[in-house]
Amino acid sequence: MSSIPPNRVLIFDTTLRDGEQAPGFSMNRQSKLRMASMLEDVGVDILEAGFPAASPDDATAVNAIAKTLHQTTICALARCQSNDIETAARALEGAHKSRIHVFISTSPLHREFKLGKSKEEIIEMAIKGITQARPHCGEVEFSAEDALRTEPDYLVEIFNAAIKAGATILNVPDTVGYTTPNEIFRLFNYLKQNIKNSDSVILSTHCHDDLGMATANSLSAVEAGARQIECALNGIGERAGNAALEEVIMALKVRKPYYDVYTETNSQKLTAASRLLTQITGQPIARNKAIVGENAFAHESGIHQHGMLKNRDTYEIMRPEDVGITQTRLVLGKHSGRAALQKRLNELGYDPDNTKMDDIFVRFKKLADKKREIHEEDLHALIMGNENQN
Ligand code: KIV
Ligand code: ZN
Repeated sequence: MSSIPPNRVLIFDTTLRDGEQAPGFSMNRQSKLRMASMLEDVGVDILEAGFPAASPDDATAVNAIAKTLHQTTICALARCQSNDIETAARALEGAHKSRIHVFISTSPLHREFKLGKSKEEIIEMAIKGITQARPHCGEVEFSAEDALRTEPDYLVEIFNAAIKAGATILNVPDTVGYTTPNEIFRLFNYLKQNIKNSDSVILSTHCHDDLGMATANSLSAVEAGARQIECALNGIGERAGNAALEEVIMALKVRKPYYDVYTETNSQKLTAASRLLTQITGQPIARNKAIVGENAFAHESGIHQHGMLKNRDTYEIMRPEDVGITQTRLVLGKHSGRAALQKRLNELGYDPDNTKMDDIFVRFKKLADKKREIHEEDLHALIMGNENQN
């Protein structure tokens, strides 16, 4: 891990674990395998394939993925419990590169009501879990569940112990999506400064979207030194979901001069990966979803279309080609202008003179008031003058 350049951010995908855990998103083994190889094509660095102790099915799926994928590090989740760790280790057998991800709750609420354990007992359990996992995989990640509601000095204490026990990736989950960009920035800064030899390990961020800030919070953590982002395709995950993989990848790419870090991902695969997930789960995404929604590269308003026809940069901060879409869609509707209509008619082989165009434009606006979108057949009808028969 120490050979990773300081401004490289690792992408840890948890679509098949935290994502699949959410109601409505469960996938069978075959689908998980298809999704996993698509995510490998996207170039994710680590793929959390499941939580093997949760069910025999999960364990088999993790094993199938571990044996099939050769570039991505395959990760399996485990509580700091002996049986979980053994099951995770077995599921990872055959993996080219493997990681066991052990976690335990650290916040006062979880300590008292979930675990009924003291701070010291929890540190002991973490050390035991990491020590047991270490010989069974290439690397161990340790997560302090509900870290954002944990006392920062206790986080430092448990992370120092985790490093001593052999963990090389320390994850700081905002388990309940409670933090804000400023707060998480301050916490990562504090951890960077106070964890012993913090430069020898990778600090990781894992944000949930309960307040709609998962992507913003992940990027703030990166600004303060996080070098791994845990995220899921289409933002799926527990409750409101995890930080969306496509959003963090594109934010770091589009705003590279600002963040001054990079990922080694192939963003051109993002749309295909997103579509595959919706197909497999049967769960559609909103039209206006950032990066992969149907409207993400569509322009309907006349003012925007006019600008776009002159120079794409006026209303486009990234190219559709960058996410694997062949071209921007200038949608014809009631907000569209004459320039976009004329362009589309020309593309269809029509070249009406100005007087004809005046008439067509008036009829186009009347038709657009009645319909949400004007399609190719409507344009042919407008030219023929029989648009009201459709
Ligand atoms: O949100 C969370 O705390 C988790 C941990 C298991 C990392 O998903
Ligand atoms: Zn989570």
